Amino acid sequence: MKTIAPDRLPALLRAMPKAELHLHVEGSLEPELIFRLAARNGVALPYASVEALRAAYAFGDLQSFLDIYYAGASVLRHELDFFEMAWAYLERAAADNVVHAEIFFDPQTHTARGVPIEAVIQGLDHACHRAHAELGVSAKLILCFLRHLSEDDALATLETALPYRHHFIGVGLDSSERGHPPEKFARVFARCRELGLHRVAHAGEEGPPAYIESALDVLRVERIDHGVRCVESPALVERLARARMPLTVCPLSNVKLRVFPTLAQHNLKALLDAGLCVTINSDDPAYFGGYVNENFVQTFAALPALTADDAYRLAANSFEASFASADDKARWTRQLDEAFAAAG
Ligand code: HPA
Ligand code: ZN
Repeated sequence: MKTIAPDRLPALLRAMPKAELHLHVEGSLEPELIFRLAARNGVALPYASVEALRAAYAFGDLQSFLDIYYAGASVLRHELDFFEMAWAYLERAAADNVVHAEIFFDPQTHTARGVPIEAVIQGLDHACHRAHAELGVSAKLILCFLRHLSEDDALATLETALPYRHHFIGVGLDSSERGHPPEKFARVFARCRELGLHRVAHAGEEGPPAYIESALDVLRVERIDHGVRCVESPALVERLARARMPLTVCPLSNVKLRVFPTLAQHNLKALLDAGLCVTINSDDPAYFGGYVNENFVQTFAALPALTADDAYRLAANSFEASFASADDKARWTRQLDEAFAAAG
């Protein structure tokens, strides 16, 4: 690879093509859109203004974030609301040179308020199709189960989603991690595997390395979301590296939710050096202070040990770790090579 001058690295991080694999679409809901949808749908918010809402974005841990995140999502009522939210994200993703996004959504957050799952999925699907046609972004959906709810609730949600099976490529597991180990969802993930759905799970964000192991062994996941606590078990790190099991890491999220005290103390470089298939993602960008390019640029600024080779590896990993076709992966990797050749 050609040498890249360090002062040219931030521009290259922004310009290089990349896939985003860990993005909760409800976490892309910006305060301005929350207020616009609240007014349109007649939903009362416990915040007087956009500024007051933004001022509440100071989180002590995952749960304190989730409480505000679910309150924000309460303004979503109709198919058009879901379309507008996803479209706004996809326009931002395109501006960050995201060529492929695998987008998480939380149907139970909405169906519990009486929103039909059809409105959720059709609105999001419409935005994905339009993004492909108009922005050149490939966009797919991953349905997430909320782990603080029961497995029976997850199974019932899966059944109501099956008429729209062709609109999502896989399932995930998110929400409060501690006290809700992956094995709680063994049956629903087994059913999803039978249905040919891809499987991912949040594990090792706040939870222990044992949760990463049970996500692999019991849920048979194909990627781990976050996974940063794997370093507490050297044997697990070795297993993840050997299997090239992807970890979708979200640096700004990890600092906002106090998984690491500062970005400079993030273990991303150590994970890469251990040979892990790490990717950089934005998680809930409207809440955590930046979309994917901001995650790249701020992380590289905070961790000077990260090199242009690491930048290339992170983008290449994002394609490798995606559920896209081999042809698409090869095409995006060629575009990545071109971006590096042009910058060298
Ligand atoms: N962790 C768990 N659940 C979530 C997150 C997260 O970072 N964001 C949205 N739901
Ligand atoms: Zn997440």
